Amino acid sequence: MRICIYYFSGTGNTEYVARKLQQGFQERSEFCDVLPLEEITLGRAKFSEGSYDLVGLGFPVHALDAPQIFRDFIELLPFCRQDYFLFKTAGDRFLWGGSSYAIRLKLANRGWKLKHEAFYRMPSNVFTRVNSNKIALRAAQAGEAAKKAVDEILAGEKKLLPSNAVMRLANGFNRFESTGCKHGSGDWFADEKCSKCGLCVVKCPTGNISFQDGGLHFADKCIFCLRCRWNCPASAIHHRKLELFLLKERFTLP
Ligand SMILES: Cc1cc2nc3c(=O)[nH]c(=O)nc-3n(C[C@H](O)[C@H](O)[C@H](O)COP(=O)(O)O)c2cc1C
Repeated sequence: MRICIYYFSGTGNTEYVARKLQQGFQERSEFCDVLPLEEITLGRAKFSEGSYDLVGLGFPVHALDAPQIFRDFIELLPFCRQDYFLFKTAGDRFLWGGSSYAIRLKLANRGWKLKHEAFYRMPSNVFTRVNSNKIALRAAQAGEAAKKAVDEILAGEKKLLPSNAVMRLANGFNRFESTGCKHGSGDWFADEKCSKCGLCVVKCPTGNISFQDGGLHFADKCIFCLRCRWNCPASAIHHRKLELFLLKERFTLP
């Protein structure tokens, strides 16, 4: 079987799970590519229709549903007969939003057939404090769960996540997040520690960061994935309004 996993990951959790899934498929002698989906949303690659028997789509939960970039990506997918599986990572056992109902519906309208859906609890990249034991444990559990998902997918077991009226209603909260991201986009700034290395400019998945007048400029396309802040070697990137909710130190997955 030829498989390709497209994922979005701001701070590495979803990428970690995507790689574990890839490893699982490869261990079962299946061909599996992995691609960050911004390669497609930024126009650097095209979705290759008909090249894969199965496509995996993964994202981190943002405010109980998918971040805007994932929804933009869905809009770029072709109308075709394509088998796929969905997976999401989230930091909270209760606030992960249930099944990706709206996404499933959109893809079904494009002719895509959902074969499997899974949720992986990973360390939260907001609010909480970093605890290295917990991070290692969550990563190990997600690795095991990914192996199990690979077995289920290859065995043709159709497992879907629960979706009820409360969860669907809660998903709606995500719209406020998208609006909030846009409004708070320009509130990011780099302090005097910024060495102007340009890593954030290169890494931003929406092309939101640029150099202007000798300093960093944050436009209005931030999706709050935190990748700029997470990867800044000088820890120079801050948010004027939401600094309190952001982790002071980033964690490293095993
Ligand atoms: C803006 C934002 C909103 C988030 N909202 C939720 C949420 O509603 N529920 C939850 O369980 N985790 C939430 N999280 C935590 C992430 O979903 C979790 O840490 C995820 O694994 C990060 O994946 P990534 O490293 O691939 O970006 C949020 C994180 C961010 C940055």
